Amino acid sequence: MKLENPTMHPVSADALSLEHFWMPFTANRQFKQAPRLLSGAKDMHYTTPEGRKILDGTAGLWCVNAGHCRAPIVEAIQRQAATMDFAPTFQMAHPLVFEAATAVAQVTPEGMDRVFFTNSGSESVDTAMKIALAYHRARGEPSRRLIIGRERGYHGVNFGGTAVGGIPGNRKTFPQLMAIVDHLRSTHDMARNAFSRGMPAHGVEFADELERLVTLHDASNIAAVIVEPVAGSTGVLLPPKGYLERLREICTKHGILLIFDEVITGFGRLGTSFAADFFKVRPDMMTVAKAINNAAIPMGAVIVDNRIHDAVIDATPVGGIEFMHGYTYSGHPMAAAAVIATQQLYKDEQTFARAAAIAPYFEDAVHGLRDARHVIDVRNLGLVAGIELAPRAGAPGKRAYEAFVKCFEMGVLVRTTGDIFALSPPLIIEKSHIDQLVSTLRDALKTVE
Ligand SMILES: Cc1ncc(COP(=O)(O)O)c(C=O)c1O
Repeated sequence: MKLENPTMHPVSADALSLEHFWMPFTANRQFKQAPRLLSGAKDMHYTTPEGRKILDGTAGLWCVNAGHCRAPIVEAIQRQAATMDFAPTFQMAHPLVFEAATAVAQVTPEGMDRVFFTNSGSESVDTAMKIALAYHRARGEPSRRLIIGRERGYHGVNFGGTAVGGIPGNRKTFPQLMAIVDHLRSTHDMARNAFSRGMPAHGVEFADELERLVTLHDASNIAAVIVEPVAGSTGVLLPPKGYLERLREICTKHGILLIFDEVITGFGRLGTSFAADFFKVRPDMMTVAKAINNAAIPMGAVIVDNRIHDAVIDATPVGGIEFMHGYTYSGHPMAAAAVIATQQLYKDEQTFARAAAIAPYFEDAVHGLRDARHVIDVRNLGLVAGIELAPRAGAPGKRAYEAFVKCFEMGVLVRTTGDIFALSPPLIIEKSHIDQLVSTLRDALKTVE
């Protein structure tokens, strides 16, 4: 079976009716005036309906880590679609879902190999929050219900994730959704850490805020702390040296669970399986999605410490349903088939080690933008980088948006959040692609005021 580019379906914007699709996280009216469409993808590139090749500097949305339309994944999905389209996982199951969980468990930290499947990062976050509450209740501490997030954190868009998240624009329309959250301060400190290569030197003391919140709320009321080890969506904010270790210490001291939201960092982004491995800090749960199956079919998961899993399971007599939670599509057969194929591909191609090997080249290249027009900070780790621009007076985000559009016209897909470019290419990126990505960004910045 030859599968060069089976998804290619060139339809121009002119031939489409654009009004029916309410686009997510998009300026709908602006977009529909001047749409940007992608209709095909292979390896490091997208193709537009007009046949233009676009270098993917963002792995789609931080998710296509093995590159696009990889044959083993495509074939696994096609086979599964023809064999069994759907089977429930409530009081029933199918073999692939167990195989998929085992494949994931092979790369998780030791003793953290229980996997609850969801369909997205948002669902993973809300599921992890419920597991935290169920765990404390199972252990006789039902008062532990408060979940602590962090300012500028992104944990998806469901009610739990929105409440515990810390991006003001995402919360504004939905304030005080859940009373049982509080927030640590963001670790972002450009005054001390601008142009850091890798982890910033200053800011370990931001973790001590957790002690303040423990004093305020009392540990007996706190269930969990959730943080992104590297905050992605808010514009690539890296943990200061020692910060995650200290958070871990304080959580352990007070019996609070530590959840790493690894939706972006999971499956190789930092050159290791998880950020937990990179930073050598072990959380109690990890939320994942995206690269778990190369984003080929929606899929997420919560990876749970065995001790937490066992406490929840053992609290109910055999024959009782231990955790009243799940989604119709938890472990969907096609998503599961894609997980198995993706995890095998990562292993066969040593994808994570490859990312680690090319990361120093990527670091040098992105820091070469230090003197590019408008740039006020560059930060990076593994194959992720944030390039921050000075905002245009009175029009925050406009400058970066215009440069993003320019990059797209010049054949490169980047992502912006506010005035920050977030680069997160597929892990199969080559040096020549990195050169193109960075030089296009530099040229685009010259054109915007
Ligand atoms: C850290 C983090 N958590 C959660 C999510 C939400 O994932 P999804 O969009 O699949 O719901 C994202 C998405 O980018 C994320 O980056």
